[in-house]
Amino acid sequence: MAKSRTAFRCTNCNHTTARWLGQCPTCNEWHTLEEVEVLQEKKARERHKVEAGGVGQERLVSLSEIEFAEQERMSTGIGEFDRVLGGGLMPASLILLGGDPGIGKSTLMLHLAKASPDLNLLYVAGEESAGQIRQRADRIGVADSRMKVLNVTDLDRIVSTARQEKPDLLVIDSIQTIYRSELASLPGSTQQVRECAAVLQQLAKREDITTLMIGHVTKEGELAGPKILEHTVDTVLQFEGDQSRFHRILRSVKNRFGSAQEVGVFSMGEQGLEEVSNPSALFLSEMDDGVSGNAVACIMEGSRPLMVEVQALVTTGSYGTPQRTTSGFDQRRLSLLLAVLEKRAGMKFSNLDVYLNIAGGLRISDRAADLAVAGALASSYRERPVKADSFLLGEIGLGGEIRRVPRTGQRIREGQKLGFQRCVAPLGEQRESPEPGIDLKRVRYLGQALDVLLS
Ligand code: TYD
Ligand code: MG
Repeated sequence: MAKSRTAFRCTNCNHTTARWLGQCPTCNEWHTLEEVEVLQEKKARERHKVEAGGVGQERLVSLSEIEFAEQERMSTGIGEFDRVLGGGLMPASLILLGGDPGIGKSTLMLHLAKASPDLNLLYVAGEESAGQIRQRADRIGVADSRMKVLNVTDLDRIVSTARQEKPDLLVIDSIQTIYRSELASLPGSTQQVRECAAVLQQLAKREDITTLMIGHVTKEGELAGPKILEHTVDTVLQFEGDQSRFHRILRSVKNRFGSAQEVGVFSMGEQGLEEVSNPSALFLSEMDDGVSGNAVACIMEGSRPLMVEVQALVTTGSYGTPQRTTSGFDQRRLSLLLAVLEKRAGMKFSNLDVYLNIAGGLRISDRAADLAVAGALASSYRERPVKADSFLLGEIGLGGEIRRVPRTGQRIREGQKLGFQRCVAPLGEQRESPEPGIDLKRVRYLGQALDVLLS
């Protein structure tokens, strides 16, 4: 078993060193270093195992004997948030909300306080001062909320306060700032983050406290980034978006209590985040019909169809290797589609620069967008705009065949709802009835699709 050893910790800023120093190297205070006993990671883990006890069944039981009660979910008051959670917060669950710094994670928590003023919310603020939080809450318009702010980062104090307060929801902002004093490593280190999360998980299960931890994804994806926590928590949510853009997407990447594919869409404005209940309109809002190189696809984000605009620019290359630049789309998929266009539709891209962009800063991986990407490329190549009010569906195979995509009907209805008048889609099954009110062109090969689109 690992031995305990001693270290020195600054009483002012918690900086820890292995040897005693007169002055703290971090906060420059004098005579603030005190000797503390530190436990090695293994020992600390054993300790909290003992503290926490078991949470499961110890007896061997058959499946049908196990009793359970259907638990009622707590609504966050934010429709898009509830949708991503699978219908609200599951009691006693542990949730991780990850995302780039500055994307709006803390802001989302304040919106939660605004939307559910009766929720007993305990907000542990490790990154900002209470004053800063109040200021932002005022800007967002959080009026009389029951939210309480705890401005400490010592895990023991957080746990004891949570035990006393018994909040409906405990928010840790962020997991990288809190620390367990027995450990010698710095807050944010892999060891600290793992330990703190393990303790919070026990707290959630044993004391029935729903807990949401905020975690930053660092550029390198490490330094105790949320990756190492994914197996510890019940639900992993990711908050994404382009910081220079206004839209934000909340995505569930793991959910023990619901679908792991759901997305919620928000836009960031002067008064904070706003729910976007019709995201397709948002991503198409700046579209210009008469320009060559633009095409619209309908992709699925979870169970939700989303209309997106694909923009391509094909230009005469400068000397040297032709450029292949993409944003929001897989570069290798682009190469493949270019090769198919070259081979099956006779377009020569080898001396041309190709730029591909998904409008709105969106990132897509749905193969159903293949045909729209090929359509945009062909449109720019031939300098002919795609027929107005059309959108495209279909995966492209290496033979230039247009393959069927799941949920074609749902996608077509989404386009129809948004006023599209023509849809180019793969040949469907016989039993699929044509959609009334939309000009549906079923195609089997790429050449056919391009004829329809660019004629
Ligand atoms: P924040 O919630 O602090 O991000 P995180 O907690 O994920 O690090 O978001 C801060 C960003 O949001 C900041 O760049 C400013 C922007 N913002 C607005 O544009 N409008 C607003 O009303 C608020 C509150 C923030
Ligand atoms: Mg924050």
